[in-house]
Amino acid sequence: MTLRKSLAAATLGLGLALVFAGAAGAAPGDGIAGSAHDFTDDASTPVGLCTFCHTPHRAQQTKLLWNHTLSSQTYSWSDTTVTTNGTTLPTFDNTWQGISKNCLSCHDGTVAIGDVAWFNATPGQNLFTDQHNDPADPFLTTFNNPGTGDLAGNHPVAHPFPFQATPSTYNGVTSGTTVVSSGWQADPAAAGIRLFNDDGSGNVSAGAVVGQTGIECSSCHDPHNGGDVVDVFFLRGTLTGSDANYICLKCHDK
Ligand code: HEC
Ligand code: HEC
Ligand code: HEC
Ligand code: HEC
Repeated sequence: MTLRKSLAAATLGLGLALVFAGAAGAAPGDGIAGSAHDFTDDASTPVGLCTFCHTPHRAQQTKLLWNHTLSSQTYSWSDTTVTTNGTTLPTFDNTWQGISKNCLSCHDGTVAIGDVAWFNATPGQNLFTDQHNDPADPFLTTFNNPGTGDLAGNHPVAHPFPFQATPSTYNGVTSGTTVVSSGWQADPAAAGIRLFNDDGSGNVSAGAVVGQTGIECSSCHDPHNGGDVVDVFFLRGTLTGSDANYICLKCHDK
Protein backbone atom coordinates (compact mmCIF):
# COMPACT_ATOMS: atom_id res chain seq x y z
CA MET A 1 0.00 0.00 0.00
CA THR A 2 1.34 3.42 -0.83
CA LEU A 3 1.58 6.27 1.63
CA ARG A 4 -0.97 8.25 -0.36
CA LYS A 5 -3.54 5.45 -0.38
CA SER A 6 -2.97 4.76 3.31
CA LEU A 7 -3.58 8.36 4.30
CA ALA A 8 -6.66 8.52 2.13
CA ALA A 9 -8.06 5.47 3.87
CA ALA A 10 -7.35 6.99 7.28
CA THR A 11 -8.92 10.33 6.38
CA LEU A 12 -12.06 8.72 5.06
CA GLY A 13 -12.74 7.19 8.47
CA LEU A 14 -13.37 3.61 9.45
CA GLY A 15 -16.65 3.05 7.64
CA LEU A 16 -15.45 4.32 4.30
CA ALA A 17 -12.00 2.82 4.79
CA LEU A 18 -13.66 -0.59 5.06
CA VAL A 19 -15.71 0.04 1.95
CA PHE A 20 -12.61 1.12 0.07
CA ALA A 21 -10.49 -1.67 1.54
CA GLY A 22 -10.74 -3.77 -1.58
CA ALA A 23 -9.11 -1.02 -3.61
CA ALA A 24 -6.76 0.42 -1.00
CA GLY A 25 -5.47 -2.84 0.53
CA ALA A 26 -6.19 -5.12 3.45
CA ALA A 27 -8.99 -4.17 5.85
CA PRO A 28 -8.10 -3.94 9.57
CA GLY A 29 -7.41 -7.45 10.89
CA ASP A 30 -7.15 -9.06 7.45
CA GLY A 31 -3.43 -9.86 7.50
CA ILE A 32 -0.27 -8.31 6.04
CA ALA A 33 -0.95 -8.93 2.36
CA GLY A 34 -2.17 -5.67 0.84
CA SER A 35 -1.56 -3.72 4.10
CA ALA A 36 0.86 -0.82 4.65
CA HIS A 37 3.43 -3.47 5.68
CA ASP A 38 3.20 -5.34 2.38
CA PHE A 39 6.32 -4.17 0.55
CA THR A 40 6.27 -6.76 -2.22
CA ASP A 41 5.26 -4.07 -4.76
CA ASP A 42 7.77 -1.49 -3.50
CA ALA A 43 10.92 -3.61 -3.63
CA SER A 44 13.42 -3.11 -6.43
CA THR A 45 13.45 -6.86 -6.99
CA PRO A 46 10.70 -9.47 -6.44
CA VAL A 47 10.58 -10.40 -2.71
CA GLY A 48 8.30 -12.30 -0.36
CA LEU A 49 5.85 -10.88 2.13
CA CYS A 50 8.09 -11.55 5.17
CA THR A 51 11.48 -10.58 3.65
CA PHE A 52 11.74 -6.99 4.86
CA CYS A 53 11.43 -8.08 8.50
CA HIS A 54 12.31 -11.79 8.83
CA THR A 55 14.67 -14.27 7.17
CA PRO A 56 15.21 -17.98 7.86
CA HIS A 57 19.01 -17.71 7.61
CA ARG A 58 21.74 -15.16 8.35
CA ALA A 59 19.43 -12.82 10.22
CA GLN A 60 20.63 -9.74 12.10
CA GLN A 61 19.69 -11.64 15.24
CA THR A 62 18.03 -14.94 16.07
CA LYS A 63 15.34 -13.20 18.11
CA LEU A 64 12.48 -12.76 15.64
CA LEU A 65 14.92 -13.92 12.92
CA TRP A 66 15.13 -10.18 12.36
CA ASN A 67 16.25 -9.27 8.82
CA HIS A 68 15.94 -5.47 8.78
CA THR A 69 19.08 -3.52 9.67
CA LEU A 70 18.62 -2.14 13.18
CA SER A 71 19.13 1.54 13.79
CA SER A 72 22.23 2.55 15.75
CA GLN A 73 20.26 5.23 17.61
CA THR A 74 19.78 5.34 21.38
CA TYR A 75 16.16 6.19 22.12
CA SER A 76 15.07 8.60 24.84
CA TRP A 77 12.74 11.55 25.40
CA SER A 78 14.65 14.85 25.15
CA ASP A 79 12.02 17.10 26.71
CA THR A 80 11.33 15.27 29.97
CA THR A 81 12.89 12.53 32.06
CA VAL A 82 9.88 11.34 34.03
CA THR A 83 6.14 10.77 33.53
CA THR A 84 3.57 12.71 35.56
CA ASN A 85 3.19 9.65 37.78
CA GLY A 86 6.90 9.62 38.54
CA THR A 87 8.17 6.82 36.31
CA THR A 88 11.54 7.48 34.70
CA LEU A 89 11.19 7.47 30.93
CA PRO A 90 13.39 4.67 29.60
CA THR A 91 16.46 4.75 27.41
CA PHE A 92 17.00 1.88 25.01
CA ASP A 93 19.02 0.98 21.94
CA ASN A 94 19.31 -1.93 19.53
CA THR A 95 20.50 -4.24 22.31
CA TRP A 96 17.10 -3.96 24.06
CA GLN A 97 15.20 -7.22 23.62
CA GLY A 98 11.77 -5.55 23.37
CA ILE A 99 9.98 -5.00 20.07
CA SER A 100 10.03 -1.21 19.85
CA LYS A 101 13.60 -1.07 18.52
CA ASN A 102 12.51 -3.39 15.69
CA CYS A 103 9.71 -0.99 14.69
CA LEU A 104 12.03 1.98 15.02
CA SER A 105 14.54 0.32 12.69
CA CYS A 106 12.20 1.64 9.97
CA HIS A 107 10.18 4.30 11.78
CA ASP A 108 13.05 6.47 13.10
CA GLY A 109 14.06 7.56 9.60
CA THR A 110 17.72 6.56 9.89
CA VAL A 111 17.69 3.27 7.97
CA ALA A 112 16.32 2.67 4.49
CA ILE A 113 13.08 0.68 4.59
CA GLY A 114 14.55 -2.03 2.35
CA ASP A 115 17.94 -2.40 4.06
CA VAL A 116 18.00 -6.10 4.92
CA ALA A 117 20.65 -8.60 6.02
CA TRP A 118 19.84 -11.42 3.65
CA PHE A 119 17.63 -12.36 0.72
CA ASN A 120 17.91 -14.84 -2.13
CA ALA A 121 21.31 -16.07 -0.90
CA THR A 122 22.70 -12.52 -1.11
CA PRO A 123 23.78 -10.40 1.89
CA GLY A 124 23.33 -6.72 2.65
CA GLN A 125 20.76 -5.63 0.09
CA ASN A 126 18.82 -2.43 -0.20
CA LEU A 127 15.52 -3.48 -1.71
CA PHE A 128 13.80 -0.11 -1.33
CA THR A 129 15.72 3.11 -0.61
CA ASP A 130 12.99 5.30 0.88
CA GLN A 131 13.77 6.18 4.51
CA HIS A 132 10.63 7.98 5.73
CA ASN A 133 12.85 10.73 7.14
CA ASP A 134 10.89 13.76 5.98
CA PRO A 135 9.54 15.60 9.05
CA ALA A 136 6.14 15.87 7.33
CA ASP A 137 5.95 12.09 6.85
CA PRO A 138 3.32 10.77 9.29
CA PHE A 139 5.13 7.45 9.47
CA LEU A 140 8.21 9.05 11.04
CA THR A 141 7.95 8.44 14.79
CA THR A 142 10.90 10.67 15.74
CA PHE A 143 9.10 13.63 14.16
CA ASN A 144 10.40 16.24 16.62
CA ASN A 145 13.99 15.52 15.68
CA PRO A 146 13.95 13.47 12.46
CA GLY A 147 16.61 10.87 11.93
CA THR A 148 17.57 10.71 15.61
CA GLY A 149 16.55 8.59 18.57
CA ASP A 150 14.50 11.39 20.11
CA LEU A 151 11.03 10.10 21.01
CA ALA A 152 9.90 13.47 22.45
CA GLY A 153 6.17 13.83 21.96
CA ASN A 154 5.53 10.10 21.80
CA HIS A 155 3.66 7.86 24.24
CA PRO A 156 6.08 5.86 26.45
CA VAL A 157 7.31 2.52 25.04
CA ALA A 158 9.78 -0.06 26.40
CA HIS A 159 8.14 1.14 29.61
CA PRO A 160 6.59 -0.62 32.66
CA PHE A 161 2.82 -1.23 32.89
CA PRO A 162 1.12 -1.67 36.31
CA PHE A 163 -0.43 -5.04 35.43
CA GLN A 164 -2.95 -6.20 38.07
CA ALA A 165 -2.56 -2.80 39.81
CA THR A 166 0.97 -3.74 40.89
CA PRO A 167 4.08 -1.67 40.10
CA SER A 168 6.26 -3.29 37.44
CA THR A 169 9.97 -3.20 36.76
CA TYR A 170 10.68 -3.41 33.04
CA ASN A 171 13.66 -2.34 30.96
CA GLY A 172 15.38 -1.29 34.18
CA VAL A 173 12.59 1.13 35.10
CA THR A 174 10.11 0.74 37.97
CA SER A 175 6.59 2.24 37.93
CA GLY A 176 6.51 5.56 39.81
CA THR A 177 5.01 5.82 43.25
CA THR A 178 1.65 7.24 42.17
CA VAL A 179 1.12 5.07 39.09
CA VAL A 180 -0.91 2.35 40.77
CA SER A 181 -3.24 4.53 42.81
CA SER A 182 -5.99 4.33 40.19
CA GLY A 183 -6.66 4.76 36.53
CA TRP A 184 -5.58 1.42 35.04
CA GLN A 185 -7.29 -1.61 33.60
CA ALA A 186 -6.10 -4.60 35.64
CA ASP A 187 -5.53 -6.80 32.58
CA PRO A 188 -5.49 -5.08 29.16
CA ALA A 189 -4.45 -8.36 27.53
CA ALA A 190 -8.00 -9.58 28.09
CA ALA A 191 -9.05 -6.82 25.70
CA GLY A 192 -6.59 -7.70 22.93
CA ILE A 193 -3.63 -5.57 24.06
CA ARG A 194 -0.23 -7.29 23.74
CA LEU A 195 1.83 -7.06 26.93
CA PHE A 196 5.41 -8.21 27.51
CA ASN A 197 7.51 -9.29 30.48
CA ASP A 198 11.15 -8.71 31.36
CA ASP A 199 12.73 -11.35 33.60
CA GLY A 200 15.41 -8.87 34.71
CA SER A 201 18.19 -10.82 32.98
CA GLY A 202 17.71 -9.30 29.57
CA ASN A 203 15.02 -11.71 28.40
CA VAL A 204 11.82 -10.11 27.12
CA SER A 205 8.93 -12.24 25.94
CA ALA A 206 5.26 -11.82 25.19
CA GLY A 207 2.75 -12.14 28.04
CA ALA A 208 2.14 -10.29 31.30
CA VAL A 209 3.80 -11.31 34.58
CA VAL A 210 2.85 -9.47 37.78
CA GLY A 211 5.67 -7.13 38.76
CA GLN A 212 7.57 -7.32 35.46
CA THR A 213 5.13 -6.24 32.73
CA GLY A 214 5.77 -3.64 30.07
CA ILE A 215 4.49 -2.10 26.86
CA GLU A 216 6.06 -1.77 23.42
CA CYS A 217 4.91 -0.33 20.08
CA SER A 218 3.14 -3.60 19.37
CA SER A 219 1.04 -3.32 22.54
CA CYS A 220 -1.13 -0.88 20.55
CA HIS A 221 -0.32 -2.01 16.97
CA ASP A 222 -0.01 -5.44 15.36
CA PRO A 223 2.55 -5.15 12.53
CA HIS A 224 0.96 -8.22 10.88
CA ASN A 225 -2.53 -6.66 10.80
CA GLY A 226 -3.73 -9.82 12.57
CA GLY A 227 -6.98 -10.79 14.25
CA ASP A 228 -6.70 -8.40 17.20
CA VAL A 229 -6.56 -5.39 14.86
CA VAL A 230 -9.90 -3.61 14.83
CA ASP A 231 -9.10 -0.29 13.13
CA VAL A 232 -6.80 1.67 10.81
CA PHE A 233 -3.07 1.97 11.60
CA PHE A 234 -2.97 -1.70 12.73
CA LEU A 235 -4.64 -0.59 15.99
CA ARG A 236 -5.69 -3.11 18.64
CA GLY A 237 -8.54 -0.77 19.60
CA THR A 238 -10.60 1.82 17.81
CA LEU A 239 -9.15 5.19 16.82
CA THR A 240 -12.49 6.87 17.53
CA GLY A 241 -15.26 6.68 20.11
CA SER A 242 -15.68 6.50 23.87
CA ASP A 243 -16.55 2.90 24.69
CA ALA A 244 -14.39 0.06 25.99
CA ASN A 245 -13.10 -0.70 22.49
CA TYR A 246 -11.44 2.71 22.21
CA ILE A 247 -7.66 2.12 22.16
CA CYS A 248 -6.80 4.43 25.08
CA LEU A 249 -9.43 2.92 27.42
CA LYS A 250 -8.03 -0.57 26.89
CA CYS A 251 -5.20 0.32 29.30
CA HIS A 252 -6.28 3.54 30.99
CA ASP A 253 -9.42 3.46 33.17
CA LYS A 254 -10.55 7.08 33.01
C1 HEC B 1 10.68 -2.88 7.26
C2 HEC B 1 10.34 -1.57 7.75
C3 HEC B 1 9.24 -1.47 8.77
C4 HEC B 1 9.17 -2.09 10.00
C5 HEC B 1 10.15 -3.05 10.61
C6 HEC B 1 7.97 -1.61 10.63
N1 HEC B 1 7.33 -0.73 9.79
FE1 HEC B 1 5.57 0.18 10.11
N2 HEC B 1 5.57 0.95 8.25
C7 HEC B 1 6.66 0.94 7.40
C8 HEC B 1 6.38 1.77 6.24
C9 HEC B 1 7.33 2.03 5.08
C10 HEC B 1 5.06 2.25 6.40
C11 HEC B 1 4.30 3.18 5.48
C12 HEC B 1 3.74 2.43 4.31
C13 HEC B 1 3.07 3.39 3.35
O1 HEC B 1 3.74 4.25 2.79
O2 HEC B 1 1.85 3.26 3.19
C14 HEC B 1 4.59 1.72 7.68
C15 HEC B 1 3.34 1.95 8.19
C16 HEC B 1 3.00 1.71 9.51
C17 HEC B 1 1.77 2.11 10.13
C18 HEC B 1 0.57 2.79 9.44
C19 HEC B 1 -0.32 1.69 8.91
C20 HEC B 1 -1.44 2.16 8.01
O3 HEC B 1 -2.35 1.33 7.79
O4 HEC B 1 -1.43 3.29 7.51
C21 HEC B 1 1.84 1.75 11.43
C22 HEC B 1 0.81 1.98 12.50
C23 HEC B 1 3.11 1.09 11.62
N3 HEC B 1 3.78 1.06 10.43
C24 HEC B 1 3.56 0.60 12.83
C25 HEC B 1 4.66 -0.23 12.97
C26 HEC B 1 5.00 -0.92 14.18
C27 HEC B 1 4.26 -0.78 15.49
C28 HEC B 1 6.08 -1.69 13.92
C29 HEC B 1 6.76 -2.67 14.84
C30 HEC B 1 5.88 -3.60 15.58
C31 HEC B 1 6.46 -1.43 12.55
N4 HEC B 1 5.57 -0.55 12.01
C32 HEC B 1 7.55 -1.99 11.88
C33 HEC B 1 7.83 0.24 7.61
C34 HEC B 1 8.09 -0.60 8.67
C1 HEC C 1 6.96 -4.91 8.70
C2 HEC C 1 7.68 -5.93 9.39
C3 HEC C 1 7.12 -7.32 9.46
C4 HEC C 1 6.69 -8.12 8.44
C5 HEC C 1 6.58 -7.78 6.97
C6 HEC C 1 6.41 -9.40 9.02
N1 HEC C 1 6.64 -9.36 10.37
FE1 HEC C 1 6.54 -10.89 11.65
N2 HEC C 1 7.01 -9.68 13.19
C7 HEC C 1 7.32 -8.35 13.07
C8 HEC C 1 7.51 -7.80 14.39
C9 HEC C 1 7.89 -6.36 14.71
C10 HEC C 1 7.27 -8.84 15.29
C11 HEC C 1 7.23 -8.76 16.82
C12 HEC C 1 5.80 -8.40 17.18
C13 HEC C 1 5.39 -8.67 18.61
O1 HEC C 1 5.95 -9.56 19.25
O2 HEC C 1 4.46 -7.99 19.06
C14 HEC C 1 7.00 -10.02 14.51
C15 HEC C 1 6.77 -11.27 15.05
C16 HEC C 1 6.65 -12.42 14.30
C17 HEC C 1 6.61 -13.74 14.86
C18 HEC C 1 6.76 -14.13 16.32
C19 HEC C 1 5.61 -13.67 17.16
C20 HEC C 1 4.29 -14.14 16.65
O3 HEC C 1 3.43 -13.27 16.43
O4 HEC C 1 4.10 -15.34 16.43
C21 HEC C 1 6.42 -14.58 13.81
C22 HEC C 1 6.31 -16.08 13.88
C23 HEC C 1 6.35 -13.77 12.61
N3 HEC C 1 6.51 -12.46 12.95
C24 HEC C 1 6.17 -14.26 11.34
C25 HEC C 1 6.00 -13.50 10.22
C26 HEC C 1 5.73 -14.03 8.91
C27 HEC C 1 5.59 -15.50 8.61
C28 HEC C 1 5.66 -12.98 8.05
C29 HEC C 1 5.33 -12.98 6.58
C30 HEC C 1 4.11 -13.70 6.21
C31 HEC C 1 5.90 -11.78 8.83
N4 HEC C 1 6.08 -12.14 10.14
C32 HEC C 1 5.97 -10.51 8.32
C33 HEC C 1 7.43 -7.65 11.91
C34 HEC C 1 7.07 -8.11 10.67
C1 HEC D 1 -0.31 3.67 23.55
C2 HEC D 1 -0.62 3.15 22.25
C3 HEC D 1 0.41 3.31 21.17
C4 HEC D 1 1.74 2.98 21.24
C5 HEC D 1 2.51 2.40 22.40
C6 HEC D 1 2.27 3.27 19.93
N1 HEC D 1 1.31 3.77 19.11
FE1 HEC D 1 1.50 4.27 17.16
N2 HEC D 1 -0.40 4.95 17.11
C7 HEC D 1 -1.30 4.87 18.16
C8 HEC D 1 -2.52 5.54 17.76
C9 HEC D 1 -3.77 5.69 18.62
C10 HEC D 1 -2.32 6.04 16.46
C11 HEC D 1 -3.24 6.91 15.62
C12 HEC D 1 -2.83 8.37 15.90
C13 HEC D 1 -3.58 9.38 15.05
O1 HEC D 1 -3.11 9.63 13.93
O2 HEC D 1 -4.58 9.92 15.53
C14 HEC D 1 -0.98 5.62 16.08
C15 HEC D 1 -0.42 5.89 14.83
C16 HEC D 1 0.81 5.41 14.40
C17 HEC D 1 1.34 5.56 13.07
C18 HEC D 1 0.62 6.19 11.88
C19 HEC D 1 0.92 7.67 11.72
C20 HEC D 1 0.43 8.52 12.87
O3 HEC D 1 1.29 8.98 13.65
O4 HEC D 1 -0.78 8.74 13.04
C21 HEC D 1 2.58 4.97 13.07
C22 HEC D 1 3.54 4.87 11.93
C23 HEC D 1 2.81 4.47 14.42
N3 HEC D 1 1.72 4.75 15.19
C24 HEC D 1 3.97 3.83 14.80
C25 HEC D 1 4.28 3.53 16.13
C26 HEC D 1 5.59 3.09 16.58
C27 HEC D 1 6.80 2.89 15.69
C28 HEC D 1 5.50 2.92 17.93
C29 HEC D 1 6.60 2.58 18.89
C30 HEC D 1 7.76 3.51 18.89
C31 HEC D 1 4.12 3.21 18.31
N4 HEC D 1 3.42 3.58 17.20
C32 HEC D 1 3.61 3.08 19.60
C33 HEC D 1 -1.08 4.26 19.37
C34 HEC D 1 0.14 3.82 19.83
C1 HEC E 1 -0.90 -0.65 26.22
C2 HEC E 1 -1.41 0.15 27.32
C3 HEC E 1 -1.65 1.61 27.03
C4 HEC E 1 -2.46 2.14 26.06
C5 HEC E 1 -3.29 1.39 25.03
C6 HEC E 1 -2.42 3.55 26.24
N1 HEC E 1 -1.59 3.86 27.28
FE1 HEC E 1 -1.13 5.72 27.90
N2 HEC E 1 0.15 4.97 29.27
C7 HEC E 1 0.42 3.64 29.46
C8 HEC E 1 1.50 3.51 30.41
C9 HEC E 1 2.07 2.21 30.94
C10 HEC E 1 1.88 4.82 30.76
C11 HEC E 1 3.01 5.23 31.70
C12 HEC E 1 2.53 5.27 33.13
C13 HEC E 1 3.65 5.72 34.04
O1 HEC E 1 4.54 4.89 34.30
O2 HEC E 1 3.65 6.90 34.44
C14 HEC E 1 1.01 5.71 30.05
C15 HEC E 1 1.05 7.08 30.17
C16 HEC E 1 0.17 7.95 29.54
C17 HEC E 1 0.07 9.35 29.82
C18 HEC E 1 0.87 10.15 30.87
C19 HEC E 1 2.13 10.71 30.23
C20 HEC E 1 2.93 11.54 31.23
O3 HEC E 1 4.15 11.70 31.03
O4 HEC E 1 2.40 12.03 32.20
C21 HEC E 1 -0.91 9.83 29.01
C22 HEC E 1 -1.43 11.24 28.97
C23 HEC E 1 -1.39 8.73 28.20
N3 HEC E 1 -0.71 7.59 28.56
C24 HEC E 1 -2.34 8.83 27.24
C25 HEC E 1 -2.77 7.80 26.42
C26 HEC E 1 -3.65 7.97 25.29
C27 HEC E 1 -4.23 9.28 24.82
C28 HEC E 1 -3.85 6.74 24.79
C29 HEC E 1 -4.64 6.37 23.55
C30 HEC E 1 -4.09 6.90 22.30
C31 HEC E 1 -3.09 5.81 25.59
N4 HEC E 1 -2.44 6.49 26.56
C32 HEC E 1 -3.07 4.44 25.42
C33 HEC E 1 -0.23 2.59 28.85
C34 HEC E 1 -1.11 2.71 27.79
